[in-house]
Amino acid sequence: MGQPLNLGIVGCGAISAQYLRTIDRLPQVRLVAVADLDLDRARAAVAAHPGVDVLTVPQLMADARIDAVLNLTIPAAHAEVALLAIAAGKDVYCEKPLAATGEDARRVLEAAQAAGVRVGCAPDTVLGTGTQTARQAIDDGLIGRPVAATATMVTPGHERWHPNPDFYYVPGGGPLLDMGPYYVSSLVTLLGPVTTVIGAASRTRAKRTIGSGPRQGEEIPVTVDTHVTGVLVHESGALSTLVMSFDAVATKAPNIEVHGERGSLVVPDPNHFDGEVLLTRLGDEGPRPLPVSAGYAGAGRGVGLIDLAEGREPRAGGTLALHVLDVMESLLASAHEGRAVDVESTCDRPRPVALDALGA
Ligand SMILES: NC(=O)c1ccc[n+]([C@@H]2O[C@H](COP(=O)([O-])OP(=O)(O)OC[C@H]3O[C@@H](n4cnc5c(N)ncnc54)[C@H](O)[C@@H]3O)[C@@H](O)[C@H]2O)c1
Repeated sequence: MGQPLNLGIVGCGAISAQYLRTIDRLPQVRLVAVADLDLDRARAAVAAHPGVDVLTVPQLMADARIDAVLNLTIPAAHAEVALLAIAAGKDVYCEKPLAATGEDARRVLEAAQAAGVRVGCAPDTVLGTGTQTARQAIDDGLIGRPVAATATMVTPGHERWHPNPDFYYVPGGGPLLDMGPYYVSSLVTLLGPVTTVIGAASRTRAKRTIGSGPRQGEEIPVTVDTHVTGVLVHESGALSTLVMSFDAVATKAPNIEVHGERGSLVVPDPNHFDGEVLLTRLGDEGPRPLPVSAGYAGAGRGVGLIDLAEGREPRAGGTLALHVLDVMESLLASAHEGRAVDVESTCDRPRPVALDALGA
């Protein structure tokens, strides 16, 4: 192994602890410093990490030791922070979505290309054994020609548990932009890029009530659609049906199913790294679990950094993230305009991940 990737984290909120746990297990990555608009949060995040500096955002960007910035800020700040990192000549790996709008995401990728730095983006869950084993099954022809998929995510809303849920209900949030990146990234990994979308969407209420933490009981405004459905037409001809909702209580539908001419797969939750893949072949009595055959085993949020650290174009990459954002924005445009919308961007299916125990 060469020199580790020297990393700085910007944004030390709820999700940062999960990244810190993974980074602690990655010999390829060395955490140098963290920053947040709220320096107390930054200090608290690395209280158990002696030697990691707590800096302001400008100090972190100017720090010549840092090769790459892990951007864990809220969606509305993703592009601004990514552009600062790029302007400082650093690679950037962003929480999802890559930016609050496709336009901002394009600016980030263009700036990175001009500066000669790389862009990675969550979700890296699809690099885990769940989605990757399903992908291997499709690539091995176990279901024949894929013709369709369903993707279902239903929850009554994150304001029930997140102490600062405001960002879930403004542009960049909503069930589609918040949870869609997992599902659409998984569908593109499994079935390839999307060319056209047809959507419908609704919004049940104008306010939500925070359910936990110091702001419990406070009402926050809702300015985005909270139930979004649609069909994604993949370049391959396969059709994926998507249901993303913050307006419903529960579902028994699998997170993702992929149907081929000779078999059907149940694909585990794309918000998780692992989980059982079930295969039913034409003529089978019922589904059977497939052995784990691909992906990072025992992974956690942050494994997408491995490609950056090892000098490869990240599979959890900017081009995929832009396409995913474009698909989601096109779906909302379709819902609002009442017509099919062509998706401007495209991407290659990300390279598969061979079975690999994380940190081994
Ligand atoms: N919370 C989760 O379970 C979860 C899961 C997966 C992904 N994510 C994603 O992770 C990201 C962060 O989510 P979170 O739940 O940690 O949010 P959060 O609100 O808890 O934390 C965000 C942090 O970023 C800081 N911040 C905001 N703008 C900044 C700026 N311009 N410069 C520096 N710091 C800034 C805030 O002060 C805050 O500490 C979001 O993109 C979200 O979609 C969250």
